[in-house]
Amino acid sequence: MTNLRKKTPETLRSARWFGPDDLRSFGHRSRMMQLGYAEEEFRGKPIIGILNTWSEINSCHGHFPERAKEVKRGVLQAGGFPIEMPVLSVDEQFTKPTSMLYRNMLAMETEEVIRSHPFDAVVLMGGCDKTTPALIMGALSAGVPFIFLPAGPMLRGNYAGKILGSGSDAWKYWDERRAGNISAEEWRGVQGGIARSHGVCMTMGTASTMTAIADSLGLTMAGASSIPAVDANHSRMASSCGRRIVDMVWEDMTPDQIVTPASVRNAAIVAMATGCSTNAVVHLVAMARRAGVDLTLDDLDALGRETPLLANIRPSGKDYLMEDFFYAGGLLAMMKQIGDRLDTTCMTVNGKTVGENIATAEVYNDDVIRPLSNPVYHEGSLAVLRGNLCPDGAVIKPAACDPKYHIHEGPALVFDSYPEMKKAVEDEDLDITPDTVMVLRNAGPQGGPGFPEWGMLPIPKALIKQGHRDMLRISDARMSGTSYGACVLHVAPESFVGGPLALLKTGDTVRLDLPNRSLDMLVPEAELEARRKTWTAPAPRFQRGWGWMFTKHVGQADTGCDFDYLQRQHGPAAGEPDI
Ligand code: FES
Ligand code: MG
Repeated sequence: MTNLRKKTPETLRSARWFGPDDLRSFGHRSRMMQLGYAEEEFRGKPIIGILNTWSEINSCHGHFPERAKEVKRGVLQAGGFPIEMPVLSVDEQFTKPTSMLYRNMLAMETEEVIRSHPFDAVVLMGGCDKTTPALIMGALSAGVPFIFLPAGPMLRGNYAGKILGSGSDAWKYWDERRAGNISAEEWRGVQGGIARSHGVCMTMGTASTMTAIADSLGLTMAGASSIPAVDANHSRMASSCGRRIVDMVWEDMTPDQIVTPASVRNAAIVAMATGCSTNAVVHLVAMARRAGVDLTLDDLDALGRETPLLANIRPSGKDYLMEDFFYAGGLLAMMKQIGDRLDTTCMTVNGKTVGENIATAEVYNDDVIRPLSNPVYHEGSLAVLRGNLCPDGAVIKPAACDPKYHIHEGPALVFDSYPEMKKAVEDEDLDITPDTVMVLRNAGPQGGPGFPEWGMLPIPKALIKQGHRDMLRISDARMSGTSYGACVLHVAPESFVGGPLALLKTGDTVRLDLPNRSLDMLVPEAELEARRKTWTAPAPRFQRGWGWMFTKHVGQADTGCDFDYLQRQHGPAAGEPDI
């Protein structure tokens, strides 16, 4: 470490708080002493903030109190001084109307908590869906060295001898329950078995996608994202974060040395090869922009076309879950399989390049982590569509939908609200065929509000009873990373702000051509123009508070839904404190 040392105790950021012989610094030091610390414990040492998204209602972060202790142990071993700081928990399962309404709140809190406190560097503790992008977005804007500590996936679900996958099996068993194929008792059994340890969803949902992205960007200890939450390796990883972050302070390894156009591209390729959640598009674009990297939907589509899906993990893969992925060698082994498509010279937080990190990785099960010669799917996870329904783009997950819908034409059945749609799908006499294209609008960033995960519209009971389990669905919503099916999502601009989806009527013909990446309503332009003239904007969703501010500043899906005033181009960050 010492030969890389660029900082001295006097040039630490925290020295602005604790160093000067003036009245204000006297106050800072005396209040640290009030907390029970002797001056020699903190003065002149790297002060490490541990930003913890734990709460008693975040079911995925239940192990974080222990992990925070392990990080502190590492920090102290390396000669730093740890300070744990709670930040917004953004639990995925309990936050209504949707956790996405609060991603930017956590991002902003992260940036401001770092900026306003004497932290020389931070360890970010997150994993449940929005926490990963939010913490990273905020820390990138704050600009101090940081390591992201991923919560890790929970163990495989288990019920009555069957393996259960987060989310995916909930949807699947719910369809069977609606079809009358499983009993109330079995349904309760699934409820008790599907989430049975600490950790994030163990399918390749948004959580595991985003932690894999953080890992491949170089922001976690190498390979950390694949370690199951309750594995002892996870504890050891946590203490290694603590030791390493202290060195990063002395080395002054700021995030601009790690998050670059090349590492963002690596992360996008890895995301495609993992069978990533569609949410990755929104979050990766937002994170990249915070680092000054202008990643577009078209860039992602191009990478999607040339990157095969290698991780055989549900829902895009068929058979396995994150625990299997770890045993098969984990993310580093998969990155090694991707090989020279990655820029292996990119630097990572452990001070080594991607190439050095993957040098000794090995695949132990090539059915779980497939070679390029035998991928799960010949293309990557996502495709970006354009057309007169989605001029600024829409997203679909080709591998997770029935191929017969890849080219499809059918009549639209349009719903303006979720409750309206929910009622209709339970109607056994609903006038619908497997060719119908079900549409939900007013479900985007502003309309949802908050861009909820409603995009996997339930298959109507009338079709379920006939044995159908997929159909083409379109919305301006997102969907859970654990979802599947022929669902077109993130239609931009959203209907609530007058995007063309607002003009579609029930009975109009909609055409999807996935190979050509197009999505259109086959309605003459003159007719659309007439409809546009009579369209009126819905009433605003919020009159006050966070929702009001969110509505005023949130961007559309294709730009990552960051707030305009938090984006890098809005202006330079506040300087360091001079008081
Ligand atoms: Fe937390 Fe899925 S609910 S990761
Ligand atoms: Mg999710």
